[in-house]
Amino acid sequence: VRRFIIVGHKASTSADFKLDDLAGGAGRLDVLLRCVNSAFFLSHSIRKDVEVLLVLQGPPRPPRTVRFCGPEMRYLNPDERSTGALVRNALLKSSAEEARSSPGVYVRDAGLAEVLASLPEECVLVYLKEDGAPLASLEKAADMAFVLSDHLDLGDAEESMLRRRANGTISLGATSYHADHCITIVNHRLDML
Ligand SMILES: C[S@@+](CC[C@H](N)C(=O)[O-])C[C@H]1O[C@@H](n2cnc3c(N)ncnc32)[C@H](O)[C@@H]1O
Repeated sequence: VRRFIIVGHKASTSADFKLDDLAGGAGRLDVLLRCVNSAFFLSHSIRKDVEVLLVLQGPPRPPRTVRFCGPEMRYLNPDERSTGALVRNALLKSSAEEARSSPGVYVRDAGLAEVLASLPEECVLVYLKEDGAPLASLEKAADMAFVLSDHLDLGDAEESMLRRRANGTISLGATSYHADHCITIVNHRLDML
């Protein structure tokens, strides 16, 4: 499994946003939706071995996490608006336990700490950050999770929690890229290994 965990610092935690306003009222949900797209979509198919976890930390009741599960995924289309509708539909549910909102889409009232704690022990956790080790040093494992932030950097508390659990920090170079572009680079790198 290839997992991508993206922290959306301002992303809405209620379904009360308009699909026409994903970059505004939804708290830059557009950034996270492009990550879903980059993680899953190939030219004419969807990657089945991928999971995406969107950690939503915006108002009104953070944190909440929406999980897209490749093997079960249905109704996922390349446009941001329809994926935004899947997230909005998931946010209508509220549950401490993970609940399914549509095929392959799950939601729970949990944040980054809970997401990291529920990763399988064998999962190799990688923090993607500009000051990490070179991408060339990344080794492929059967179960991997990559953590990225959205348009904002991780907070100090988030970063120290992540660095404690992470197996390593990997850099794609000194240039800061958009999170969805980083996912494309990582997918390509892993495809080549
Ligand atoms: C747009 S960047 C974050 C904001 C950026 N640090 C800034 O304030 O200029 C989104 C995320 O992509 C990842 N990222 C971007 N460039 C990267 C790079 N060169 N190497 C590794 N990760 C990168 C990091 O996880 C980062 O938090």
